[in-house]
Amino acid sequence: MIVGIVVVVVAAVAGIVAGVVISRSHSSTSNTSGGGSSGSSTGSTGGTTTGALAGSAGVVQLTDPNDPSTYVADPRLHNSFYGFAYTPLNVQLPWCGAVQGNVTEDVILLSQLTTRIRLYGADCNQSALVLEGITASKVDLSVYLAICEYVTDNVTSYTEQKEKVLDALTTYGADKVLGVAVGNEFILNNLTALNLNDPNSTQGIQAADYLISLMADTRQSIASLGLSKTIPVGTADAGSMLTPHLLAGADFGMANVHPWFGNVAIDDAADWTYDFFEEFDVSPSLATSNKPAMSIAETGWPTKSSSAADATDGPSEASVANLQIFMDDFVCPSNTNGTQYFFFEYFDEPWKDAEFGGVEGWWGVFTSDKQLKNLTIPQCTHP
Ligand SMILES: *[C@@H]1O[C@H](CO)[C@@H](O)[C@H](O)[C@H]1NC(C)=O
Ligand SMILES: *[C@@H]1O[C@H](CO)[C@@H](O)[C@H](O)[C@H]1NC(C)=O
Ligand SMILES: *[C@@H]1O[C@H](CO)[C@@H](O)[C@H](O)[C@H]1NC(C)=O
Ligand SMILES: *[C@@H]1O[C@H](CO)[C@@H](O)[C@H](O)[C@H]1NC(C)=O
Ligand SMILES: *[C@@H]1O[C@H](CO)[C@@H](O)[C@H](O)[C@H]1NC(C)=O
Ligand SMILES: *[C@@H]1O[C@H](CO)[C@@H](O)[C@H](O)[C@H]1NC(C)=O
Ligand SMILES: *[C@@H]1O[C@H](CO)[C@@H](O)[C@H](O)[C@H]1NC(C)=O
Repeated sequence: MIVGIVVVVVAAVAGIVAGVVISRSHSSTSNTSGGGSSGSSTGSTGGTTTGALAGSAGVVQLTDPNDPSTYVADPRLHNSFYGFAYTPLNVQLPWCGAVQGNVTEDVILLSQLTTRIRLYGADCNQSALVLEGITASKVDLSVYLAICEYVTDNVTSYTEQKEKVLDALTTYGADKVLGVAVGNEFILNNLTALNLNDPNSTQGIQAADYLISLMADTRQSIASLGLSKTIPVGTADAGSMLTPHLLAGADFGMANVHPWFGNVAIDDAADWTYDFFEEFDVSPSLATSNKPAMSIAETGWPTKSSSAADATDGPSEASVANLQIFMDDFVCPSNTNGTQYFFFEYFDEPWKDAEFGGVEGWWGVFTSDKQLKNLTIPQCTHP
């Protein structure tokens, strides 16, 4: 288990770095502003140039091109997941480039898999893009918005993102917003910079106190909007970083729990994920008086690696077949026993592959151009 924690921590560091160092691919010479040739129905060869999905990959068909609520459902997709982790393409500073049509198309696809998504930050207008997509397409999808600091203690980044979340809440209201996560792997990032890994250490408690103050500030700012309902404010971090001390200041806690980075065999992956989450995340929550709701912020399985060194996690390979096994073992059983999770993730992220290689860019259920991988989506109901 200790090995597992360390490896989860190391992996999560890569995630942090991924958030800090942005792929140059966004500033490459390719012109993505309007898709390619028009009229194609597949994302890999073209895109949609006009109407509500202008600039999208063109995988979703609309009966009325100007009305995204008239989308044609994909019979291969089933609304079986508690939630999904989602980062739109092109929302990393300073290379903002996401377009509404693409985000609306993502929202329509995601709504056929789940009723909940979580974002990682608020840069590049992503809170509004997602809420606009949900509103326009009239899908049954709600979202955890997020404020993520690219660099720990970057008050400018925090304040800018908070304003964007407040703007989006003002424009779109609270109906489709489930909560706001402040910080993505904030404690992990803070401790790693000090070459530490114990969230119960003095430094870990100090970092938690700082994060608690940010959550309180966000909570107060949202309250001042006078919305129709209270929006919970919590945080997301590596699975081993959520202590009772931190959770006492959170309305919810989200924990990354990755069997791949725990070097777990695929046949044990679902059980390991459940056990890790119970021990390191649900237990600390139960040790607080406020008992914040806990969910798995990320869990999944990579479908390939860009390097031979990362082709396996030790016992099992990165493959679509293994993602299928993990999905089958994890999704419906977790729905049955009430484990809340955000499946990682919606689609492959080319910028992560360009920057980090290995398995980083290959966790999607969809490819980066929104083609469903060779997977059979489980069929069951979810809470
Ligand atoms: C990208 O393509 C669009 C549409 O073809 C064009 O209007 C725009 O000027 C192009 N941008 C660049 C940077 O080439
Ligand atoms: C953000 O997105 C919303 C929804 O598409 C749009 O109305 C608004 O103009 C955008 N704001 C900026 C600054 O791009
Ligand atoms: C803090 O975040 C802002 C963006 O909100 C960015 O411009 C600035 O470079 C960041 N500062 C550091 C030290 O990274
Ligand atoms: C931190 O301390 C709490 C007790 O307050 C304990 O339950 C938890 O396991 C500790 N976390 C770690 C990662 O050691
Ligand atoms: C860690 O958090 C503390 C607040 O407890 C802050 O003063 C410090 O700058 C942070 N360290 C890093 C590397 O961001
Ligand atoms: C809940 O489901 C997981 C599979 O995701 C399983 O490992 C775990 O044993 C189940 N827990 C209970 C209490 O049934
Ligand atoms: C829209 O999505 C497609 C498929 O992911 C991508 O190729 C294209 O670059 C995106 N356009 C923008 C402007 O992000």
